[in-house]
Amino acid sequence: MQNKYLAMTPPMGWNSWNTFTWNINEDLVCGAADALCASGLKDKGYEYVVIDDCWSLKQRDENGRLVPDPEKFPHGMKAVADYVHSKGLKFGMYSCCGTHTCAGYPGSFEHEFVDAETFASWGVDYLKYDNCYKPKHMDGEVLYKRMSLALRNCGRDIVLSACNWGNEDVHSWIRSSGAQLFRSTGDIQDNWESVKNLFLSQLDKTAFSGPYCHNDIDMLIVGMHGSSNNEFIGNIGSCSDLEYRSHFALWAVMGSPLMIGCDIREMSDETRRILMNDEMIRINQDPLCRQPYKVKNHAWNDNVLIYVKALANGDLAIGMFNLSDEKSRAAMNLDEIGLPFSTGHTLELTEVWTGDTLRARNASLTAELEPFASKVYRAKVVKL
Ligand code: GLA
Repeated sequence: MQNKYLAMTPPMGWNSWNTFTWNINEDLVCGAADALCASGLKDKGYEYVVIDDCWSLKQRDENGRLVPDPEKFPHGMKAVADYVHSKGLKFGMYSCCGTHTCAGYPGSFEHEFVDAETFASWGVDYLKYDNCYKPKHMDGEVLYKRMSLALRNCGRDIVLSACNWGNEDVHSWIRSSGAQLFRSTGDIQDNWESVKNLFLSQLDKTAFSGPYCHNDIDMLIVGMHGSSNNEFIGNIGSCSDLEYRSHFALWAVMGSPLMIGCDIREMSDETRRILMNDEMIRINQDPLCRQPYKVKNHAWNDNVLIYVKALANGDLAIGMFNLSDEKSRAAMNLDEIGLPFSTGHTLELTEVWTGDTLRARNASLTAELEPFASKVYRAKVVKL
């Protein structure tokens, strides 16, 4: 029997695009599966290995089916899927709702049902579904509904990761389509400005994400350090480890999927530490999937944003993010999150990156933040 309850919490895994773009093959994909296991990422919950664009031939076969490029994937896709599954992982692929993919390979427009059947026959568990070359007269909503229906009737559980970059008010109809994810942003680039802008662009959309259908603010750039072979992704210099930390914290608190984009076969120790931070992952994967709400920063600094996320066990995740290149202060009042002094309660907090613990005093919480730094607390409500 199919399990229709896919992606209760945001999916976690690895995707080929950010670092490798067109330069993919079965050794890379199987190597990524090996690396997920050997590095310990799999044990932390990263389970999808996703091949992005550029995997097929430019023509369908005589039966109208997609054909993996035999030079890149000489043993075919089923063999790659079998290998990924043999490692206890799940396998993802990519197509597009238009006539072509963004890189010019065949898209699934008017081939939705046959493609869903093909993906199912290969053992695909996750489909990223892009938005390029969509015929002008077609409504995107209809096309995503069509692929969703095709996948939900292909005989296999396949997560639909819709990727229309936030067009056509996707947040307002995507959950009804049956899709499990919706990319709400344009493409991420390996620099802080991009991370910041993607985050800021979604602050009025937080109400639309939740269990079984998550706002996807794009794949992670953590640990890439300028390694993309794509000029757009890597053209303005990369990030420091501190910026990668804050990027990961933002994605975690926002409940975005955690799809790693770096070369996981060659991660630095700091990259591992960021991607494998247990508490940050626990906040991201909290079963309630509540979206964070904004709290006023009483330090009157517009560059420091404070976001609070309600967690399933009654705790709160409190994220303080300094988006600017100046040392800045964060200050919040506990009464604004439901804890005035008169309740006889306060917070006991553990900072997620350092493990430092503290108890809130005077019904407020303050922090000094280095440029681009973040503090994320797991906060427990305790009696005064
Ligand atoms: C679009 C998507 C990217 C990636 C590329 C592939 O730009 O937004 O995430 O999938 O296409 O061509």
